[in-house]
Amino acid sequence: MLTDAELDPTPITAKTVAIIGFGNQGRAQALNLHDSGIAVTVGLRPGSARAEDASAHGLRVASPADAAEGADLVFLLAPDEHLPGIYRAIEGSLRPGAALGFAHGLTIHYGLIEPRADLDVIMVAPKGPGAALRRLYTEGKGMVALAAVAQDATGAAWPLALAYAAALGSGRAGAGVLRSTFEQETVSDLFNESAVVWGAVPAILEAGFETLVAAGIDPRLAYLECVTELKLLADLVAERGIAGMREAISNTAEFGAASGGHRVVDEAVKARMAAMLGELRSDAFARALQQEAASDYPALREARRGARASALEAARLSLKGEPDR
Ligand SMILES: NC(=O)c1ccc[n+]([C@@H]2O[C@H](COP(=O)([O-])OP(=O)(O)OC[C@H]3O[C@@H](n4cnc5c(N)ncnc54)[C@H](OP(=O)(O)O)[C@@H]3O)[C@@H](O)[C@H]2O)c1
Repeated sequence: MLTDAELDPTPITAKTVAIIGFGNQGRAQALNLHDSGIAVTVGLRPGSARAEDASAHGLRVASPADAAEGADLVFLLAPDEHLPGIYRAIEGSLRPGAALGFAHGLTIHYGLIEPRADLDVIMVAPKGPGAALRRLYTEGKGMVALAAVAQDATGAAWPLALAYAAALGSGRAGAGVLRSTFEQETVSDLFNESAVVWGAVPAILEAGFETLVAAGIDPRLAYLECVTELKLLADLVAERGIAGMREAISNTAEFGAASGGHRVVDEAVKARMAAMLGELRSDAFARALQQEAASDYPALREARRGARASALEAARLSLKGEPDR
């Protein structure tokens, strides 16, 4: 892991940077760069409700093409499925030898964007949500980030990527920058999202809740046991790792975990994970995501509707005592 002691911030200090998008990552990255003394222009489509917020923080706001015009580095920080269209709209504005930046490798790795040959193509991918990236920066801390280079047309792509990561605060104590590749970042990120933390963990919580409720347990108790305790687990794992977490819980809990966990997550689960990894290595997932966006997100709408209408969500709301929608 590279930290500020090894990272040279100068390759970005005199550069002009355009950040396209002011959402989760765009807002955090633009503000961190601005506070690090970098000249930032935010590129937003006409009528964006976020223009006022960006201006209020002292950032120049322009259309995506105008922000990209003449910029040394243009970071595309809008939803992945919209990045190919955004790239097509700004390509003609990118100066020869400019750098194009990403926070996730999907569109480059699967060839949905084929950047002009004269451009440097870099990635700085903070390993967490934008709100946390910003909060950590304002607290004088940083968030771990991956850096990668897909195209080094000028020979200066790596120093620029590492300097950008430093300007985000990722080289500060407690964080660090890991050199990676677009392929490794993309495949591991999609795998985790589909098959581990964001895909499988909520599915395990739901399955546990449904099993208890089907056996006659009060749904509110089932929710408290199977869902609420996830935060306790996450905090312990973050602080002590999985081995330390096991040692921090009661002997009863530890014995149950040691004897039960791998009966649920067995070799058949790993085999299905390996099959999913194989699917992600092809471009099928990336193209399905683009198709989902082109059809106005039918699968995501249905998944959100189903989750809101579930017995698990009803149990959560009855524990809270008030609706939060
Ligand atoms: N979510 C995270 O914290 C996270 C973490 C690591 C990496 N990433 C990566 O960071 C990138 C950005 O993700 P995100 O979650 O930050 O995106 P996001 O919050 O959904 O991005 C919203 C911003 O994108 C703009 N936008 C959307 N469609 C656009 C279009 N067609 N043309 C121009 N602007 C458009 C929106 O414009 P309006 O203001 O007009 O609505 C808004 O400013 C992705 O590559 C993602 O994989 C995200």
